[in-house]
Parts: sequence; C-alpha cells; structure tokens
Amino acid sequence: MSEEARLREAICEHGRLLFGRGFSVGSAGNISVRLEDGVLITPTNSCLGRLDPARISKLDAAWRHVGGDRPSKEVFMHRAFLAARPEAGAVVHLHSTHATAIACLAAPGGTAPIPPLTPYFVMRIGRALPVLPYYRPGDPAMEPSIAEAARAARAVLLANHGPVVSGPSLDDAVWAAEELEEAARLALLLHDRGARTLTAAQVDELLHTFG
Ligand code: 13P
Repeated sequence: MSEEARLREAICEHGRLLFGRGFSVGSAGNISVRLEDGVLITPTNSCLGRLDPARISKLDAAWRHVGGDRPSKEVFMHRAFLAARPEAGAVVHLHSTHATAIACLAAPGGTAPIPPLTPYFVMRIGRALPVLPYYRPGDPAMEPSIAEAARAARAVLLANHGPVVSGPSLDDAVWAAEELEEAARLALLLHDRGARTLTAAQVDELLHTFG
C-alpha cells in the first residue's frame, strides 16, 4: 500500500473514531494531511464518521483541487497551519463541545484559556493556545490571522467556532485534538473548585523532556 493510500485509510479511521466519541457531529470538522506532492483534506459537507478513502480530496502543492470530492471550505485554516509550521504534518479542526464552549467565553483568558491541569495537555498542546476572533466558516480572511498565531502555537481556538490543532503526524494531531477537548472539559468541570494546576517548573520539565 502506498503512503498516500495508507493516509487516506487513516483519515477515515480517525474520522470514524472522533465521530463515534461525539467529538464531531453532523458534517462538522475537517482533517488535512501533508503529502510529498500536496495535501489530502476531507471533502466539504462530509460526515467524519462515514468518510470514503477514495473520495478524500487531493490538492496539489499549490493547493489546487486535483482529485476526489470538493475540498473542505476550511482549506484556508489548514493552509495557514501547514504553511506556518513546516514541521506540522496534519491539521484537525473540530467543533468538539468543551473546547468550543471555552471559545465562546466572553473573556477566555489571553493565550492560556485552559490552565495546565494535566501533563498530556501540556505535552500535546504546549504553553500557548491563542483564542482568535470570530470568522464565518470558510472565510478566507481567517488565513493571515491563523498563520500569525500558528507560528507560535500548535493549536488555536476560533471564537464561537472551535479548535484547530496541528501535529507532526496525523496521529499526533488527532491525539492533541482529543487532549485539548478533554482538558477543556476538565477546566469547565473544575472552574469554581479551586483546582491545583501544574507549576511553571512542572510545565517547563514536561516541555523540556517531551518537546
Ligand atoms: P466543511 O464541511 O466544508 O469541511 O466544513 C465543516 C466545518 O467544520 C466548518 O467549520
């Protein structure tokens, strides 16, 4: 099986698992993966739970549609991340409930809207999680704003919309999106209970040890 065929299957499998856990509903969410000769991205208006490997959209290195169904309208958010982060191999955008709830807060809290409660949140997302202004889904105007934030952050929250998460590989990006959703859920569960967060030294140690 070619690397592209393997990645097509992997996108469908991850989509099925994300949908099965309720991290994506209806036709929400999209996934992209960098190839040697372009990008694979989920088709617009597709259900992540029922993707067909043969119908995943293929874009060439200039982001022109060259195969499969019509690409996600969020192609600009994926391009912003993949262009700004040369080490990123994949991008996952979800409307997962708890991360989106934090993105709907009137004052989400600067570049750290979710406190460092657990090691895996820090290891997968890092220190920064900027909350960007609201853009309508598919608005190309989001691209420069996401690109600027993505140079300093592996993930962002789009106000009133949801998370966009990158990772070195498809597995990494999906796992980071899952950690982000669970961290958001913990933050909301604990917000008025005086939770103990990891200390600055513990966060430093995690990032030093795990990158
Ligand atoms: P697409 O169906 O075009 O991928 O858009 C879904 C979505 O999540 C919009 O933000």
